[in-house]
Amino acid sequence: MTNPTTFEVCEEKPVANPKEAAGRQAAELVESGMRVGLGTGSTVAFTLARLAERVASEGLEVHGVPTSIDTQTRAVELGIPLMTLAEVERLDLTIDGADEIDAAFQMIKGGGGALLREKVVASISERVAIVVGRDKVVERLGLSFLLPVEVVPFALPTVSRELRGIGCEPVLRLDGPSEPFHTDNGNRIFDCRFPDGIADAPTLERELACVPGIVESGLFIGLAHTALIGADDGSVSVTHHRP
Ligand code: A5P
Repeated sequence: MTNPTTFEVCEEKPVANPKEAAGRQAAELVESGMRVGLGTGSTVAFTLARLAERVASEGLEVHGVPTSIDTQTRAVELGIPLMTLAEVERLDLTIDGADEIDAAFQMIKGGGGALLREKVVASISERVAIVVGRDKVVERLGLSFLLPVEVVPFALPTVSRELRGIGCEPVLRLDGPSEPFHTDNGNRIFDCRFPDGIADAPTLERELACVPGIVESGLFIGLAHTALIGADDGSVSVTHHRP
């Protein structure tokens, strides 16, 4: 892996919330005429808000492709024009959050359950910018955050056995005390605990992709180009990496 280059960027007045600082800063990457993948989560919510401000104040022309029903709803409320995957082959930029990111820009995503649509959208993007607070930066993935794996309901028992064979403990995500969580695609999620973390994320991603019934894993490898990392003092470090 090449060494990422880091430099400080903070054009706006610093805000003391790391997510807000990173999220708002990322909206400045958007140029008029761009088609932009809109990620999911509380950090991207700040990006959407800033993007909407720019649409209103600068007349920024942008079309977004949302990665979840939640983001779609927010974008509509904010007045950000949207388009569907049927209307666009490639996106200029995607801005999304992450649950963990390491120095090689390998990530765990899917804490909000939107991993499948997020990966589809990232896969057709010329550039993917990740917005996180510094607490999401880790040395090894999977030590503190469980890996989400999206599974078709029919295959829950077989996939559970396969996951145990791979060396993790799958926990079915719940929505409330006993109801299983449903993704936007009608699937379920196993949150997978790896006792020693994830030593080889690319190999694990390929292994998981071969298990029938797994729709997608929350391992995002080789997809991110830029990370905007917000610090507690409101500064944002921008790091570039060639996937
Ligand atoms: C959604 O499924 C996730 O991949 C989010 O991008 C991730 O959980 C980051 O969320 P926050 O910005 O809320 O921490």
